[in-house]
Order: sequence, then C-alpha cells, then structure tokens
Amino acid sequence: HFIKKANLAWQGKNVVVTAGPTQEVIDPVRFFSNRSSGKMGYAIAEMAAARGAQVTLISGPVSLPMPHGVKRISVHNAAEMFSAVNDVFEHADVIIKAAAVADYKPKETFDQKVKKSTGDLMITMERTEDILKSLGERKSHQILVGFAAESENIEAYAKKKLDTKNLDVIAANSIVKEGSGFQGDTNELVLYFKNGREVSIPLTTKVAAANQLLDAIKPLLGEHIK
Ligand code: CTP
Ligand code: CA
Repeated sequence: HFIKKANLAWQGKNVVVTAGPTQEVIDPVRFFSNRSSGKMGYAIAEMAAARGAQVTLISGPVSLPMPHGVKRISVHNAAEMFSAVNDVFEHADVIIKAAAVADYKPKETFDQKVKKSTGDLMITMERTEDILKSLGERKSHQILVGFAAESENIEAYAKKKLDTKNLDVIAANSIVKEGSGFQGDTNELVLYFKNGREVSIPLTTKVAAANQLLDAIKPLLGEHIK
C-alpha cells in the first residue's frame, strides 16, 4: 500500500533524464570525453519509469543495456544533447541532468585523421553551451535537478552550482572518494535543495541511490502544478 501511494505522484509525469558522457570530436579517430559510465542516469531513468513516469532518457555514448519502459534518445556531443534537451524541455515536469557534459570542445574538427609530426600538438578548445544553466534561465514550471561532480570542496561548489544555474536541487557527488562517482556500481550523494533542505544518501548501489533521490524530490512534484 505504501509503495502504491508513493508512486501516485510520479504517475504520468514527464521526466527527462540525461546520462553518460559526451564525446567532442577532433578527427575521424579521436575525441575528448570523460569517465562517466551513464550508470547513475540510467538507474534514475529506469526507477522513474517503474514509478509510472513518462521518461525520456537523453544519453551520450555508453555501453549499457536499454532501460525498461523508457524512451531513449542517443546523442554524441554537447551540442546534440543541448538540442535534444531543448526539444523536450517545454513539456517536461522534471529534468534530471546526470550527464557529464564536456565543458570544452575542439575549436576545429578535422575531416581527415591528423597525422603526427615531430613537434608538440596544440589543440585549441572552446566552451560548449552550459545546458543546465540555459534551462535554469528559461524555466517556468519545470523542476531542475543537477549533479555536481567534484574532487574537492564538494559542498561549497555544489551549492554555488545550485545557485548560479537556478536549480531546485543539486546532487553532490565526490569523484575521488572510494565507491563514489564515475564508473562503479555504487554512489554516495548529498542533495542540496533550493529551500535549504539537505538529504544525505550514504554509500549504496546506484539503483538504490536513484530510488532515494526520487523519494527525496517527490515533495516538489505537487508544488509545480501547471
Ligand atoms: N552541465 C550541463 N552542460 C554543460 C556542463 C554541465 O548541463 N556544458 C550540467 C551537468 O549535467 C550537471 C551540472 O551541469 O548536472 C554540473 O556539472 P559539473 O561538470 O559538475 O559543473 P560545471 O558547471 O560544468 O562546472 P565545473 O565542471 O567547472 O565544476
Ligand atoms: Ca563540467
């Protein structure tokens, strides 16, 4: 009975989850990327679908099976992710940005493989769009949940992102602590809410962490009736 009641809030809600890394192409054989496996985002997408939400998963390149009950849109780079997120933003109720979006991309991409030469190689990088910040500037009814991947000063940096990106919640994540962050099957999170609420999710599986995250943001669903 308890589970049924808890799920009701998610029934029919449009939930958008981004997951995985992005790959920013240099030439036909090389790209810049990061260590994100996509596991946290995929777990959130699947658990939200299990609660009855309509889930769109916008995924960078990962090697994970398709989660059950989810519509997946595959993208390669930050620009494609931005465009895919924009397409679904207006009708979204909740957006959870677990993706590790590249902050920089090569200013120039080469059609042919870059050949080695004797000297050093210089690649000029330019900023990608900060997708979440852009959503924060345009949001109306949407609940925005960001992730902060940090190697130090986790709380301060995460709270700064909560503020500057105009988020409702940020999930702070150590990428250096044992058992936490990229790649593994476990994670430890602290959620900071705009209203000052804090929720700790101690080290657990990414699936359990996803469920605890969804439980924690559930009270926000009712506050944003369109
Ligand atoms: N994010 C985004 N678009 C980007 C970069 C980040 O939407 N170009 C989102 C991520 O999906 C995440 C949040 O912003 O939800 C925070 O990402 P993170 O890399 O921790 O922070 P940044 O703002 O990029 O700052 P920095 O990497 O310098 O710590
Ligand atoms: Ca970043």
